[in-house]
Amino acid sequence: MARRKIVAGNWKMNMTPSEAVKLVEELKPLVASDDVDVVYCVPAIDIVPVVEAVKGSNVKIGAENFYIEDKGAFTGEISAPMLKDAGVEYIVIGHSERRDIFGENDILINAKVKKAFEAGLKPILCCGESLELRKKGTYLDWIKRQITWDLTGVTADQVKNLVIAYEPIWAIGTGETASSDQAEEVCKAIRENISEMYDAATAEAVRIQYGGSVNAGNAAELFAKPNIDGGLVGGASLKADFGKIVNYK
Ligand code: 13P
Repeated sequence: MARRKIVAGNWKMNMTPSEAVKLVEELKPLVASDDVDVVYCVPAIDIVPVVEAVKGSNVKIGAENFYIEDKGAFTGEISAPMLKDAGVEYIVIGHSERRDIFGENDILINAKVKKAFEAGLKPILCCGESLELRKKGTYLDWIKRQITWDLTGVTADQVKNLVIAYEPIWAIGTGETASSDQAEEVCKAIRENISEMYDAATAEAVRIQYGGSVNAGNAAELFAKPNIDGGLVGGASLKADFGKIVNYK
């Protein structure tokens, strides 16, 4: 069975609540699609108004971060059950910006993946190598290690509902996209790793996105690759181009 494509915008730390609602309205006619899952991963403060603004459309909402406890004395944090209750379906976990700027390691990321599933959220688990590792040629080993750590104790049934985003750090926000062959090489290796860790059916089911300077001009070539099931889009998700990426065919 062919996997359904999934195109998600990662808004990062952009859009005030009123800007967010305006963007959702602008994009509404542009992102309509019957055969692609469309997700906006938005800042926490935008979740409530954006969930309201997408009602009646095909767009699903994701969050960008949460903490692994359900509730309690964790000033400033938001829990997975809070996100679920607010209407969130997807959650970005392990983004390189959280790993590098906020010091999140694979132990925490693994705990987040498990907590997200427990709360009924679908993780978009990010992985990817630095330019240094790309140049050294050890990037496949690095990504395999990230995936293996991050999915420790996660069941095959859960992985079937997981989205993995391959995001080479050197291609994020730089305008330098991995070539479709480079992206396919890694996405294929990730699928093979899932097959080794679980089984062929799980590897066949898991959706693997490419992220890193995806835009209206390169989406079609990237998404045509057999192991690339869509994209995780940063900058271009904040403008009308996102509609062209969703309707890339
Ligand atoms: P850009 O599309 O801006 O390169 O960002 C990619 C990304 O980090 C998505 O999570």
